[in-house]
Amino acid sequence: MRGLALGSLKLPSNVLQSPMADCTDLPFRLVARQRGLAMACAEMISANSLVRVSRKTLDMLKTSAEDRPLAAQLLGHDPAVMARAATILEDQGFDLLDINLGCSVPKVVKNCEGSALLEEPLKVGRIFAAVKKALRKIPLTAKLRKGFKDESGDEAVAVAKLAQAEGLVGLVVHGRTGKQNYSVPADHKAVAKVKEAVSIPVIGNGDIFTAEDALRMVQESSCDGVMVGRGGLGNPWLYKEIEAALQGAQAPPPPSARDKRDALLQHLDYEVLHLGERQAMLNMRRIGAWYTAGLTHAKQLRVELCGAPDTAAMRELIEAFFCRLCGHP
Ligand SMILES: Cc1cc2nc3c(=O)[nH]c(=O)nc-3n(C[C@H](O)[C@H](O)[C@H](O)COP(=O)(O)O)c2cc1C
Repeated sequence: MRGLALGSLKLPSNVLQSPMADCTDLPFRLVARQRGLAMACAEMISANSLVRVSRKTLDMLKTSAEDRPLAAQLLGHDPAVMARAATILEDQGFDLLDINLGCSVPKVVKNCEGSALLEEPLKVGRIFAAVKKALRKIPLTAKLRKGFKDESGDEAVAVAKLAQAEGLVGLVVHGRTGKQNYSVPADHKAVAKVKEAVSIPVIGNGDIFTAEDALRMVQESSCDGVMVGRGGLGNPWLYKEIEAALQGAQAPPPPSARDKRDALLQHLDYEVLHLGERQAMLNMRRIGAWYTAGLTHAKQLRVELCGAPDTAAMRELIEAFFCRLCGHP
């Protein structure tokens, strides 16, 4: 596999980063891009909040010149509001727009948004048509689950056909229903079913934590690319590892403890720079855990980070942790 074309957007890699609320912000993306991530997606945005010009929503769109190419993801159910929000995002300079048909959070589903829309193909068709018409040049994709409650994959197939008919240029398929949680393995056959039904690119998503997982996804579904979610948390090297495997190239060396320390400290610096000291302190409690998962005394570091008075103290704790782990500063 050597690159992916999503309409006018030509990507050098077949590996994409999955949008994850409260995780895939600008600092996350910058750390990953510097280690080989080719295509990123910002955090999901509510169309309603965006058209109401909510400060918090605008903050979630924060990006920078190095953060390219970048997709935005839109959540909503009203075609007119979705279309207005799409125009705002296009004007902000995003390279691609994705429609969320996968979110399963109760307050979203109750509003007939996200994965709940998979049961409402007529509504989905109206949203696709309105958003497509509103966009002047950037390509449009959708990210869907295999169904809302129905486990057959038929709902995803129906929506995929609609997407193709309305001019969407690609689909991401997560092989779980909106009702299934992560304890159920992602169903790659559902991705295969969508791939067979349409000719636009289909990107497989779900349970990709290693290059082998990605190869299995491609073998079992014949998908055109893969999207990595949780596997990228604290592992910004994974995208490049997968890319090498998909290209049949030699695997890059695995990250050392020093590489992990440097990436975590860089993540900390970007948090402070782009989100400010207060938000950085809150976020670093989670981010510290991502990078140190499985390492000796990681739990102790997590506790210490929670008690740190500021990010300078967090930096010292992280440095001391890795110094203990690998014996050099
Ligand atoms: C904390 C978290 C937040 C997520 N937020 C979003 C989101 O905003 N939009 C979306 O399409 N999917 C979201 N997802 C789903 C992921 O993008 C992905 O589809 C799912 O986790 C399966 O991929 P994975 O097994 O590689 O993690 C989220 C998942 C997690 C764990």
